[in-house]
Parts: sequence; structure tokens; C-alpha cells
Amino acid sequence: MVKICCIGAGYVGGPTMAVIALKCPSIEVAVVDISVSRITAWNSDQLPIYEPGLEEVVKQCRGKNLFFSNDVEKHVSEADIVFVSVNTPTKTRGLGAGKAADLTYWESAARMIADVSKSDKIVVEKSTVPVKTAEAIEKILTHNSKGINYQILSNPEFLAEGTAIQDLFNPDRVLIGGRETPQGQKAIQALKDVYAQFVPEERILCTNLWSAELSKLAANAFLAQRISSVNAMSALCEATGADVSQVSHAIGKDTRIGPKFLNASVGFGGSCFQKDILNLVYICECNGLSEVASYWKQVIKVNDYQKNRFVNRVVSSMFNTVAGKKIAILGFAFKKDTGDTRETPAIDVCKGLLTDKAHLSIYDPQVNEEQIQRDLSLNKFDWDHPVHLQPLSPTTVKQVSVAWDAYEAIKDAHGLCILTEWDEFKALDYKKIYDNMQKPAFVFDGRNVVNVEKLREIGFIVYSIGKPLDPWLKDLPAVA
Ligand code: NAI
Repeated sequence: MVKICCIGAGYVGGPTMAVIALKCPSIEVAVVDISVSRITAWNSDQLPIYEPGLEEVVKQCRGKNLFFSNDVEKHVSEADIVFVSVNTPTKTRGLGAGKAADLTYWESAARMIADVSKSDKIVVEKSTVPVKTAEAIEKILTHNSKGINYQILSNPEFLAEGTAIQDLFNPDRVLIGGRETPQGQKAIQALKDVYAQFVPEERILCTNLWSAELSKLAANAFLAQRISSVNAMSALCEATGADVSQVSHAIGKDTRIGPKFLNASVGFGGSCFQKDILNLVYICECNGLSEVASYWKQVIKVNDYQKNRFVNRVVSSMFNTVAGKKIAILGFAFKKDTGDTRETPAIDVCKGLLTDKAHLSIYDPQVNEEQIQRDLSLNKFDWDHPVHLQPLSPTTVKQVSVAWDAYEAIKDAHGLCILTEWDEFKALDYKKIYDNMQKPAFVFDGRNVVNVEKLREIGFIVYSIGKPLDPWLKDLPAVA
């Protein structure tokens, strides 16, 4: 029986391995982690991450051919294939701070593999890593090899949170990069044999190591660039009276452009886009490609601009001050159908409003108070470390309360900001909400969720990203 071990039981390691276990009953899969709380949760009824369909998959194979464990060394030593899916945060200090990937967790995983291995292994990069990381990992493993043969493969993960299970069942492609040597090709074939049990062969792409590593960074850069492009257009729509939804629809009809990823919003978030672009920028700079670096850097600048613009719209509409005013925040996760808040635009929007001394009342169906408080007090990039190694904030943010229901969050508020596109926000009773708010009552829709005309009929002053402006906002400054 082939044995797989995955180091890192996070958003990637957990779902990918659960699906491999489900689809390949003849393979034994162990997912290991240094975090005791994460593994305890994976072995309980309350999984550590929310992802539609995940619970059903885990329940079907946990205890049969899928195991979650803190005994990292035992499972690594027994495995034929070791996936590494650990954190790769942005460096906050030293060379490349603010841009380069911090490979501390990767390096410690590689050294541990070298320490405990007694048989040949295929080591698979599942984490997103800088180009040429495989070379560094290879050096660590071969210099400590004790005669064991290691083959390094790059198999970046393309799942999207919120649709992870669907994406894993039916991926657009699986990418496997390896050395162009006979042993490298043999290792590629071994991993291909795993995926081929549930993915059509023509969707399994095999490349050299560096192409696979770079393709992951390139894919995320292209996706984020699309969002920044439509967000840049949303600012122009507001200035000209065009409607960004109509513009997106019109350009998306061009088959060369396509309709996906063209929704204007308050900005992109998630653990990957910003981090991967910063990483790409750093690699470009290290290779003397400053023009290419500044091209990609602009994608992040537009994203920051979009979040700032939103905060400024809120403050300037409300008589240039939100001090002491209750603002309800609907949605904190970085997108719907996930509880993940890493780099969510809600953090920057909330921090911006708190700087102006607003009182925030936050509701998200999948994010709890502890997480929100942690997010609002952590320093930039600190979130991307194993939970038990994150610095704990000594104080809570007092001007923030968290509600368990949208109506409760909005009661007596002066304004309401929609920051995640949860379906339930479309179905709220906005007349009831209006009646329970201070007047004038403002809605700031950062996700184009509400029906602007209907809300204006009720009496709200409505700002919706990229839509023709409410007369109230017309002469107010968009950017400070
Ligand atoms: P995560 O933070 O949810 O999980 C990483 C896990 O690794 C943590 O539970 C941590 O405790 C564990 N860990 C760290 N060092 C370890 C060690 N030495 N031994 C054992 N366990 C260790 O991170 P996530 O989101 O799963 O991401 C993992 C990698 O995959 C990152 O490189 C990320 O950029 C990449 N990625 C993430 C995607 C996403 O949607 N979240 C999609 C595609 C790639």
C-alpha cells in the first residue's frame, strides 16, 4: 500500500489530502502538524476550517485511510510520498523584508524529513514557494541523506477557498514539475498515478521544476491583476456615471477576456494574492528586472487604493466624521463561503474607520469574536505563522463589538458597510433595517450585493462600488 504523509494540516493540506484519501482508497494518507489544537479539531466534529462539502469527505474516510496526527516524525518516516504544505509567510525582517518569502517552516520540515527518513522518498512542494526553492530543499536533503534517495517535485495547489472541494474533485489542471532525469521522470509518474485515479490524464500537466514553481506565482498574479483592473475601472465609473456591472458584462462577453473574476469590490484578500505578488516582485528585483517588478507592484497599490477609497467614501458621506458613530460591518471573511480572514479587506476598512474613532458592530456568519479581535490587533504579516506561534494581543479593541445576527449588528447604527458577499445579505429585510437605524441612514456596499434602486426607494443613501453615485455623494471627495 502506498503511504502518503502531508506536513501541514491547514486550508490546503486538510482538504487536498481528504480528497486524495476519498478518491484513492488503496492509499493511506496521514496529515500531520505541529499544532495540537489543529489536529484535535481535525479529529473532532468541529473541523478547524469551514469549507462546503469538506465535513462529508472527512467523515467518509477518517479512521479508514485518512489520519490526522501530531506524530510528525513517525508518519514522515513511514511515507513513500511526503507533501509539504506548511506556512510560507512574507518576511518581516532582514534581507527582503516585506516582500520575500520566509522559508523557516519549510526548511525545518526538510531538515526533519532528512533526520527521520530510513527509506527513499518523493518530497512534494505543495506550499507556494519562490522559484528555485526545490534546489535549496534538494541541497538540505542530499547533504543529510545517509544514502537515501530523494526526488523533489513541485505540485502547486490551485484550489480556491469556498469552492475547495469542488475544485479538488474537478480541477482545471494538476501541475507536476520535476527534474528532467530518469529518476525525476519516475517520481513525476508516481505522483501522476495518484492523481490519475480521479483526474483525466489530459488535465495532468508535467513540466520542469522551475516552470511549475513559477506557474503558481504567475497564476495568482494574473488573477489578482484582473481584480485590480476591474477595481480601477470602478473608480472611473463613479467619476463618469458608467456602471461597472454593465461594463464588466460587456467586456466579459469577449471570449478573449471571459466573464469570470470581473466583479468590482472593496478589494481582494486571502492568504495568497498579496503574498505571492510580493514574492514575485522580489524575485524580479533579485534578477534585475525592475520594470517587471514595478508592473506587478501596481496590482497591490490599486488594491490598497480601493480600500482607502471605500473608507473615504464612508467618512466623507457622513459629514466628514464617524467619531462616536455606530457603523455596522456585515461580513469579515475575505469572501463568502469561508471563515478565512487572512488579509481580508475588512481588516483595513475597519482599521481605517477606527482611526476616525468609529464604533464598529461586526457580524459574519463564519467568523467569531476572538478571530476578529486577533485580526484587528495583529501586525501586518504576523497572521501567517502557525497559530500557537502568533503573538497574542495584550488588549482587545474596545470600540469593536461582535454580533451574532445581522439585525442586531445594525440596530441604531448610522451606517452599514457590506464587506463580504454572503448570500444571506441579499435576503435581509432592508425596510426593517432602515426603521431601526439612525437617520439619515447610509449603506456602503463594498461587494455590489444590494439592489441600489430598491434601497433608495426605502430612504437609504446608498454607495455601491462602481455604480452611478447617489446625489448625496456627488460633490464629495473620493480620495483624501
Ligand atoms: P495554514 O496556515 O492553514 O496551514 C499551514 C500548517 O502548517 C499550519 O497548521 C502549521 O501549524 C503547519 N506547520 C508549519 N510548520 C510546520 C512543521 N515544521 N511541521 C508540521 N506542521 C507545520 O496555511 P495554508 O493556507 O494551508 O497554506 C499552506 C501553503 O499553501 C502556503 O504556502 C500557501 O501559500 C499555499 N496555498 C494556499 C492556498 C489557500 O487557499 N489557502 C491555495 C494554494 C496554495
